Amino acid sequence: MRKYLVIGNPIEHSLSPLIHNHWIKKYNLVDSVYEKRKVEEKNLKNLIKEIKGDEIVGVNVTVPYKKLIIPFLDELDFSAKETQSVNTLFKTNNKIIGYNTDRAGFGDTIREAYPLSNVSMEPQPLKGKCIFILGAGGVTSSIISALKGEGADNIILSNRTKEKANELRKLFPELEVLDWGKRPTICNIVINTTSVGLTKDEEVKIDFSDYDKSFHKNLLFYDLIYNPKETVFLKKARLRGNKTMNGKMMFLNQAKYAFNIWTNIMPEIDDDVIKLLD
Ligand SMILES: NC(=O)c1ccc[n+]([C@@H]2O[C@H](COP(=O)([O-])OP(=O)(O)OC[C@H]3O[C@@H](n4cnc5c(N)ncnc54)[C@H](OP(=O)(O)O)[C@@H]3O)[C@@H](O)[C@H]2O)c1
Repeated sequence: MRKYLVIGNPIEHSLSPLIHNHWIKKYNLVDSVYEKRKVEEKNLKNLIKEIKGDEIVGVNVTVPYKKLIIPFLDELDFSAKETQSVNTLFKTNNKIIGYNTDRAGFGDTIREAYPLSNVSMEPQPLKGKCIFILGAGGVTSSIISALKGEGADNIILSNRTKEKANELRKLFPELEVLDWGKRPTICNIVINTTSVGLTKDEEVKIDFSDYDKSFHKNLLFYDLIYNPKETVFLKKARLRGNKTMNGKMMFLNQAKYAFNIWTNIMPEIDDDVIKLLD
């Protein structure tokens, strides 16, 4: 049996098994299965021992272990090193390598979303654009790294707990940090990387009502949350006439890149797999 896992705590709500088992079936990977497993922090060491064994081929890592897993790994790829965040493990030559596919997953979607019309004309579409990020949790370094990869050079960040925003400046010294509740006068892209909005009707208490389309062309509001499909943050943006995008395609893309690392197959993101998240 070739086993794949997603580990975290809590883990009940993870939709990764649904996606990966769909692809396992679609691409006829016999004797393979993808499961979720709740892991306590004190058991990470044992898990690593288990991965060094024969059964487990690949692992996805989710909250709260994307950083905590790093000391147990033999090597990190470029994205994992830059972000100090690992969401995918793969064993090769008895070494466990940590990868970060959240970065590429988000990168693909931001390229699609901004600017909608002339991406192909601009090699660095985000150069000179103001980008405001809310949150400084485990996923935020992946978002910053992907934005930088697209040429972003004006990233402003705010987090409820300011020390965590300042921690991120150790990885990305060029970040500008604002107190929670403050916002730039105007920005081109606003990204919610907080978990505020996971519960219906919950909202980030920052007023963007003057960020309307007439004031600034191509304003994009992006929420990493995809369930609910439209958070209050996105709904208000849509009603103002801004462009909006949720985190669904990012989630599918990060899964696609993880599957590719493990199997060498780049799975198709078709309607069947998109529907699995509805
Ligand atoms: N689409 C995707 O593929 C994808 C991938 C990864 C994550 N996500 C989503 O991204 C979000 C963050 O994930 P994560 O792994 O970074 O989580 P995390 O490490 O737990 O970080 C949570 C973030 O939310 C902030 N926050 C929580 N409650 C808040 C409140 N009431 N008011 C203000 N800020 C609050 C935290 O601020 P403090 O530091 O002050 O606590 C922190 O910045 C989650 O919703 C997750 O589902 C999506």
